[in-house]
Amino acid sequence: MPDEAQALRARELARQAATLAELRDLLAGFDGCNLKSTAKTLVFADGNPNAGVMFVGEAPGRDEDLEGLPFVGRSGRLLDRMLAAIGLTRDSAYIANVIPWRPPGNRTPTPLETEICRPFIERQIELANPKVLITLGGPSAKVLLHAQEGILKFRGKWRTHETAGGLAVPAMPTLHPAYLLRNPAHKRLAWRDFLEIKAKLRDLDAG
Ligand code: URA
Repeated sequence: MPDEAQALRARELARQAATLAELRDLLAGFDGCNLKSTAKTLVFADGNPNAGVMFVGEAPGRDEDLEGLPFVGRSGRLLDRMLAAIGLTRDSAYIANVIPWRPPGNRTPTPLETEICRPFIERQIELANPKVLITLGGPSAKVLLHAQEGILKFRGKWRTHETAGGLAVPAMPTLHPAYLLRNPAHKRLAWRDFLEIKAKLRDLDAG
């Protein structure tokens, strides 16, 4: 099947999943993305899908591919510290990636690979139904929030993620932890974003 047909097939399949467990099973049985053939594991999610706050990164790296969990390597450890700074843990947040299979050598996923994986992460968000969505890094903001400018400009303002089923989820685009490891001076920008997230979660709890 050509890749375009796989993207169509992915959309049909993702729609069929009625629960996150079903979605994971469908994804595990889906052979339409070539990234699956080079990855060791499916990296579906970590954390608590009922938490009300969902973080979405780009794609698994080596450590994630080995463990089958998102954000367990160096950038994951930084993410854990950022979560802790606003009172969150992996039990009070849900974490996934746009792409669930490690691209070989951590190369950038191609636009077609991203298109094939997109319906699955969109359905995952829809089924988790978070009150707040946080995109980590430029690619996630592009796919889920249609960012047309660089992440340094796009980050820090509340946006909306529209699900296929018509839900509007408040979304905060912020910088990727791997970027922050390379550019520690920009941690203050991410900190501002995380304070926004904390305030939003507090408001939602109060309401
Ligand atoms: N970077 C990501 O975007 N996701 C991970 O799971 C790990 C590193």
